[in-house]
Amino acid sequence: MKVFKTVKSIQDHLLKMDKSKTIGFVPTMGALHKGHLSIVKKAKAENDLVVVSIFVNPTQFDKEEDLKKYPSSLEKDLELLKAEDCDLVFTPTTSEVYSSQIKAISFDFNGLDKVMEGAFRKGHFDGVGTIVKKLIEIVHPDKAYFGEKDFQQLQIIKKMVENNQISVQIIPCEIYREKDGLAMSSRNIRLTKEQRQAAPLIYQTLLKAQKLFPKEDIPTVKHLIKLELEKNNFLNLEYFEIADIKTLKSAVNKKENKKYRAFIAVFAGKVRLIDNIALN
Ligand code: PAJ
Repeated sequence: MKVFKTVKSIQDHLLKMDKSKTIGFVPTMGALHKGHLSIVKKAKAENDLVVVSIFVNPTQFDKEEDLKKYPSSLEKDLELLKAEDCDLVFTPTTSEVYSSQIKAISFDFNGLDKVMEGAFRKGHFDGVGTIVKKLIEIVHPDKAYFGEKDFQQLQIIKKMVENNQISVQIIPCEIYREKDGLAMSSRNIRLTKEQRQAAPLIYQTLLKAQKLFPKEDIPTVKHLIKLELEKNNFLNLEYFEIADIKTLKSAVNKKENKKYRAFIAVFAGKVRLIDNIALN
């Protein structure tokens, strides 16, 4: 496994490679867990070569504190990636990717960025779009892999790639969960014992929404789920939404031939956790 810190060094290496080899790319912000590694495994199975990037992207954080407290464990991450037989790792510094202008580009995501995560985290998706576009332009992968854990991010990246005519295939990857259902996240290690014990309720309420969805109308499902979460002292609901998976707009009535998903964001103290589930 080779590790590169500069754009030039990884590009020089990629240029020298056999052009017939397919490249799978997995962008991450590090503090790797089994969710990330499940994506690396999928990318390994589907490509000749896998590139993972580890870069905590400042322009996608709306709160300075969240950026400062974002966990980092580079040495351990590299060990985990080596064990997965990852081929190349790109670990640039901020100035390497952004030069002196640490700024996001302003994108038109056809409204996908105006709801849920975009509504509660101002500028977040412009930051994500900026870094993902930069990284894809550096690595030139055949396929780039993104987790459904961040379903809105996945849809926005698909839109960004389509709008900018970038030739890469975006591959969705299933949400990887702890045994008790909590979606794996780099933020989970910041939870106190009590918060960690309460956190599986997030997935339990999503399962409940999935069960209620065929028989109840959407406002009723939303109401029942909110009631359920209000009972818990360690979790504070930020939003619970049921949305059309294509537009991500909040749905009021179920329409035939449309696919819906439930989306949730919760605060456990200062730690923000998100999750989602397919409803039909
Ligand atoms: P990060 O949170 O490190 O996640 C990297 C990738 O892993 C994302 O595609 C994310 O959806 C996926 N992922 C995280 N937890 C997962 C889980 N439990 N199951 C399956 N996939 C999971 O998302 C980002 O970084 C950044 O926004 C990034 C795309 C790298 C741009 O900076």
